[in-house]
Amino acid sequence: LLSHNFSTTTPNNSIQNITVYGSGLMGAGIVQVAAQNGFKVTMVDIEQKFIDRGKEIINASLKRIAKKQHKDDENAQKSFIESTLSNIKTNTDSLKGAENSDLIIEAIVENLQTKQNLFKKLDESANSNAIFASNTSSLPISEISKVTKRQDKFAGLHFFNPVPQMKLVEIIKINQTSEDTYQSLIEVTKKMQKTPVTCKDTPGFIVNRLLVPYLLEAMRLAERGDASIEDVDTAMKLGAGMPMGPFELSDFVGLDTLKSIVDGWRKDGKIDAGLVASVKKLDNLVKDGKLGRKSGEGFYTY
Ligand code: 3HC
Repeated sequence: LLSHNFSTTTPNNSIQNITVYGSGLMGAGIVQVAAQNGFKVTMVDIEQKFIDRGKEIINASLKRIAKKQHKDDENAQKSFIESTLSNIKTNTDSLKGAENSDLIIEAIVENLQTKQNLFKKLDESANSNAIFASNTSSLPISEISKVTKRQDKFAGLHFFNPVPQMKLVEIIKINQTSEDTYQSLIEVTKKMQKTPVTCKDTPGFIVNRLLVPYLLEAMRLAERGDASIEDVDTAMKLGAGMPMGPFELSDFVGLDTLKSIVDGWRKDGKIDAGLVASVKKLDNLVKDGKLGRKSGEGFYTY
């Protein structure tokens, strides 16, 4: 009779406490949506100044959402913001930040060794049943996970920028990811009011595998002088219904991010060479520190 109380799809370890490593645009966004949807979240970064910047990102976004949700009700705006913020703690101690965590999401710098070092340490200090997830957009999940003894509790959890606005989360299963881990991640994603899709551990997963070659092809088209970047952007917005043209979107995502994705794929050798051929303009902009919106200049000036 007791078994009637348990649904077969409910995972054993329901997630309540989440720790997010990295307080940049992605990390802060993940912290925010988790906190907004009732999870207790700890945001961890190596320096207080990074945490402070992450908090600013969250505050600005919450204000925007509060104004939209409670148009003429300042009290409701305030209480929405306060109740969300009350779910967020911060920590600059990389191990203490994960104490009592059921799910650890990593959104730190896109460097394999750095990510492996973090997970290796966490594997020893975190709860033995905590699930580990990486928000990487360019590194294989299996490579990151192999330094841990819990590959069955390891997966990719890939969010999109701006995290509070984009409804998708890609769940990346490696061969070892257990069904229970996978179900827990589906559940968390839905509680965050996002739509999950599932993908194998292949370069770019779904979105970037299709989006990045498209962005590069737009750059090649303009580099040949076939059309101006403004006209390419107008064309894709008005002719293909994209919210941003490919150059606006490249600047938005960050040109260094795009370059690192493509450079990684080229080295990897698994994707058709023509699709990942380097683009001089992109390489030069990144070399000059023109990384898009975040640095004030990319294909456009901000
Ligand atoms: N926090 C909260 N809300 C936000 C927000 C944020 N940071 N940014 C935008 N919004 C909300 C606004 O409040 C507004 O809400 P409303 O429509 O309900 O009023 C809505 O988003 C639209 O914002 P705006 O009117 O200011 O601007 P736009 O209409 O131009 O929309 C956009 C902005 C949502 C960013 C839209 O241009 C868009 O969807 N662009 C494409 C983004 C995209 O493709 N992202 C994926 C990049 S790839 C990636 O991230 C993967 C990585 O691995 C590289």
